[in-house]
Amino acid sequence: MKNITLKFVAIATILLPVFLILAARPDISNAAPLADDDTAAVYKAKCAMCHSPKAEKSFDPEMTDEEMVKAILDGKKAAKPPHMPAYRDKGIDEAKAQALVKYMRELRTPPSE
Ligand code: HEC
Repeated sequence: MKNITLKFVAIATILLPVFLILAARPDISNAAPLADDDTAAVYKAKCAMCHSPKAEKSFDPEMTDEEMVKAILDGKKAAKPPHMPAYRDKGIDEAKAQALVKYMRELRTPPSE
């Protein structure tokens, strides 16, 4: 019996740091791109690889905001792959899409210019 208690204490001592690390993890996963409210972070994590960090690729600033929001929510077929994925079911709603469009326009035309 005493032996079992000892084993338990030993296991608990080993597992405690693991639990502490796991308990601290939600902080890290909260920073995961689509759970984050930071538009710039979302863009960097989800969009920049196709649109380039300055929104220079596959982004026609002549399009209206409505067309762009629709492209983000419903996706858009390019002449050849890769196509624009639909983000409606991936944590981006209309307001967030609108914020992303605004952000991409700002990337293209920095306020300082
Ligand atoms: C897999 C590559 C890829 C990813 C990832 C991607 N896009 Fe796109 N996106 C495209 C392509 C390709 C087009 C269509 C370009 C065209 O019309 O030929 C497009 C079109 C768009 C458009 C419409 C503008 C236009 O000229 O067609 C917007 C706005 C847009 N994307 C925003 C985003 C946002 C915001 C994200 C991240 C949440 C994102 N894209 C992620 C490839 C991508």
